[in-house]
Amino acid sequence: MSVSAVVGAQWGDEAKGKMVDLLAQEAHIVARFNGGDNAGHTVVNQYGTFKLRLTPNGFYNPDTICVIGPGVVVNMNTLASEVETIQEKGIDLTDRLWVSPRCNVVMPWHPMLETIYEKAKGRAQTGTTKRGMSPTYADKVSYNGIRLYDFSSQETLTQKIRTQLAIKNPIFEAFGLKPLNFEEILEEKINQYEGLGAFVRESFGLLHETLSKGDQILLEGAQGALLDNNWGTYPFCTASVPLSGGACAGLGLPPQTITRVVGVAKAYTTRVGAGPMPTELFDEDGRTIQDQGQEFGTVTGRARRCGWFDAELVRFTSQLNGVTELALTKLDVLDTLPVVKICVGYRSEESGEKLRHYWEGDAHWLEACEPVYIELEGWGESTKEARAFDQLPAKAQAYIRKVEELVGVRISVVSVGPARNETFSL
Ligand code: IMP
Repeated sequence: MSVSAVVGAQWGDEAKGKMVDLLAQEAHIVARFNGGDNAGHTVVNQYGTFKLRLTPNGFYNPDTICVIGPGVVVNMNTLASEVETIQEKGIDLTDRLWVSPRCNVVMPWHPMLETIYEKAKGRAQTGTTKRGMSPTYADKVSYNGIRLYDFSSQETLTQKIRTQLAIKNPIFEAFGLKPLNFEEILEEKINQYEGLGAFVRESFGLLHETLSKGDQILLEGAQGALLDNNWGTYPFCTASVPLSGGACAGLGLPPQTITRVVGVAKAYTTRVGAGPMPTELFDEDGRTIQDQGQEFGTVTGRARRCGWFDAELVRFTSQLNGVTELALTKLDVLDTLPVVKICVGYRSEESGEKLRHYWEGDAHWLEACEPVYIELEGWGESTKEARAFDQLPAKAQAYIRKVEELVGVRISVVSVGPARNETFSL
């Protein structure tokens, strides 16, 4: 059995795509198990530059099968346009893209509901990616979802859309919005399904056959552990389970088959959207990180909030995911900083000298906590050319070793730039 998972150890955007890209070279299957088109990553290869939200990485490799499991919610419009873009470049997905019919579909009413929820919350809003994620997952768990299975019978689809519009349209009218038109939605969805139907097939058998042959399966987590719906900074989180454990339910894999869990963390911290972020910087250092790291969202273009590496958080998410090794990305972004800080825990009003853990309280509690830092001297020179640990400046090496010690997990990969070769193993 050989299943590896790549998961985000912070608030998403950890450059997981790059790690997946590296590991996908040896994978028979690359599988997505959570989220939807709220995720976004850029893939650069010999065919060009691809900005993808749903299609698993490895799509350009003729021997790799790409699976979208039932834990993912599918925006058919996004998927159809990704498939078109990929196939236009001469990459054939016919036998290689498998989308589970158990996937719930993001319907036109979901982003509308999300807008209503966000507006109603005012300053307390989550700051979502506006892709309709939470209403789609909410409909899924309240048995109101529409799944790809439903497209195999026009009668079922018709009846389900009618039922949902009977529930949703009065809400839209109450909020002064135009009700949705049944015929328009039915026609649009049937058209979209025509282009995608060939890829809709259950991957459970394929995955288990691959397991029994001992071929490699790579699990591609979207978002990051601190956005998890159970363990993240609720309600400033996402609707799915971006944890290694989420892959079991999200794809139908037994837990003991996942033997390698690569947690991906930036050498600093970023976050998009609202919610507590103890190490957030509002000064020149924060701006340097934002500029050097080009910290702007792939899906929304929003500027990401930037701050120091938070070892307390990554220790927690490593425990949560059973991380067996850590990939530390974007180390080069810190190259010019005179001092680099690492958060080792928090102090709250009632804690006195004792350091507190992330998991001891909720988002509100965390907001009131103060980060406690250790300081290291910056290395003040470029790490971009380094292709081995011993080619790094001594102070950058010390930084990596300190992160490793504080998180309690071996760092196996360091990346010092966006290109595939700007990476080395330890
Ligand atoms: P949603 O997933 O669109 O509902 O957004 C909920 C929260 O998760 C917001 O704070 C988003 O900014 C954040 N989020 C969702 N997807 C990503 C991602 O891929 N990277 C980083 N943040 C994300």
